[in-house]
Amino acid sequence: MQDQLNAIWEQASAELKQISESAQLEQLRVKVLGKKGALTEILRGMGKLPAEERPRMGQMVNSIREKIEQAISERTAAIKQAEKEKALRSEVIDVTMPAKERQAGSLHPISLVLDDMLEIFSGLGFEMVEGPEIETDRFNFELLNVPKNHPARDAQDTFYIDDNVVLRSQTSPVQARVMTTRKPPIRIVSPGRVYRADEVDATHSPVFHQFEGLCIDENINMGDLKGTLDEFAKRMFGDGISTRFRPSFFPFTEPSAEVDLTCAACHGKGCRMCKGTGWIEVLGAGMVNPHVLEMCSIDPQKYQGFAFGMGIERIAVIKYGIPDMRYLYENDVRFLSQFR
Ligand code: DAH
Repeated sequence: MQDQLNAIWEQASAELKQISESAQLEQLRVKVLGKKGALTEILRGMGKLPAEERPRMGQMVNSIREKIEQAISERTAAIKQAEKEKALRSEVIDVTMPAKERQAGSLHPISLVLDDMLEIFSGLGFEMVEGPEIETDRFNFELLNVPKNHPARDAQDTFYIDDNVVLRSQTSPVQARVMTTRKPPIRIVSPGRVYRADEVDATHSPVFHQFEGLCIDENINMGDLKGTLDEFAKRMFGDGISTRFRPSFFPFTEPSAEVDLTCAACHGKGCRMCKGTGWIEVLGAGMVNPHVLEMCSIDPQKYQGFAFGMGIERIAVIKYGIPDMRYLYENDVRFLSQFR
């Protein structure tokens, strides 16, 4: 019997050494000390022993039981400690690790130049007004002196939604909206998206942005227009940049001008960008046609005005030397991140 007891102790302590989880400890405790455990089995068999041997054997069983219980509780404590340390280690923060790189976004070049333009014109006393992109034929064309079947409509391949509704082909309808709802003095700029049925290429897109300006007051003349655009050119592209006005035609202005700026790439010396001329065509402008003022209920005897319109993409392309307008729409981060 003593041998049996020793064997139980030896096996239990050997198994204990292998155990590394609390759950396995409990299994071992049941196996050895439980109701059907090996030690309990021996206790049951004691009835068969002669009476005088029983106390000695009882003592021995009890001392083995105590040894095993002691060993299990020591092992339990050790495992608990190890588990705690493991948990603590998993929570350790290494403050010397390099930080994750943050991907900072940036404003799109069109937003950047638009912000510049708005700042320049607000400094000159212009207020920003926006208009709808889905526009009536009346504001997009008729009130701008472009009646139905007028040849000027051909110049702008317009998307028609129905006979009287279009995707605006220019920001000029905002002029008509403001003139029909406000009294002079008027000084507004209006940026926004415009639509034309154009094929995509390096200088065209069916959706692009324009920036419109309108100034109406008493005694406004072409000199005011020239001064305003000259100031804009200098603030946008630098002091060495000047403007050149060439006669042109727009139905809503009379006289009308096509306005060139000194080529910002070569400062007027002549380069590939300006095809050797030293000038870059940038915008359309003119004195608001008296007939337009009249249609919009502004008295042309009392008031005059100037207006201008330009492509925002064109300004961005010139300002940043972008070789192809399509870069502006592809949203390739290798392109966009250059404007950070
Ligand atoms: N709306 C014209 C265009 O899209 C640009 C323009 C020219 C606007 C002359 C004006 C202007 O306000 O006076 O081609």
